[in-house]
Amino acid sequence: MSDSITITIDGKEIEARPEQTILEAADAAGVYIPRLCSHPDLKPIGSCRVCVVLCDGRPQAACVKPVMDGMVIENETPAILQHRKNIIDMMFVEGNHFCMFCEKSGSCELQALAYRFGITAPQYPFQFPEKEIDASHPDVMLDHNRCVMCARCVRASQELDGKNVFQSIGRGFERKIGVNGERALGDTEMEATDRAAELCPVGCVVKKRVGFATPIGRRDYDAAPIGSNIEGERS
Ligand code: FES
Repeated sequence: MSDSITITIDGKEIEARPEQTILEAADAAGVYIPRLCSHPDLKPIGSCRVCVVLCDGRPQAACVKPVMDGMVIENETPAILQHRKNIIDMMFVEGNHFCMFCEKSGSCELQALAYRFGITAPQYPFQFPEKEIDASHPDVMLDHNRCVMCARCVRASQELDGKNVFQSIGRGFERKIGVNGERALGDTEMEATDRAAELCPVGCVVKKRVGFATPIGRRDYDAAPIGSNIEGERS
């Protein structure tokens, strides 16, 4: 008996395996579903909601929802696209993202999503919240101004580095990434070689002294929009 099932995304039938999530099945078929908190090396938590699709008419986070035979998925309706734009907009105004001064510019997934969605200026008022910068560690910096609370650093430290350097603390607008050191990141067992220092999608957790090692013009999304690598595999 074949363990292959069939799902439909935006009218296109694709083959999937029962253990896959919608996001994984779409990726394998060359259909890009935008995402931010999800990363292939980490367990998905479905927190950012950028990947929400309509699944048999109901909104579902594609990164955590398993596929089922016959499932009908809508990924690019005007309402879904607007929903994603709204979320991205909110991330920009709830932090302090000064892209032109950020060393992650060109390789930042939030910035790249904004470009992909044609966002030139957020539709919501900027909050300009007061956020801290933790430069206490000799090799890694934590800039809370740029954090989007995707928890990739939290999961990477736990799942890949076998540490527990980062946690999500606080609630609502006060929510932020905390560290398990006595006072700051410099008091933790964080190392620059940790995957947690690598998987931040924005410029929040960054390694020191390597910010401009890759020149602007040769960064991840300088030549092609985010998602192009997946769409390039389209059959
Ligand atoms: S990528 Fe699915 S909720 Fe963030």
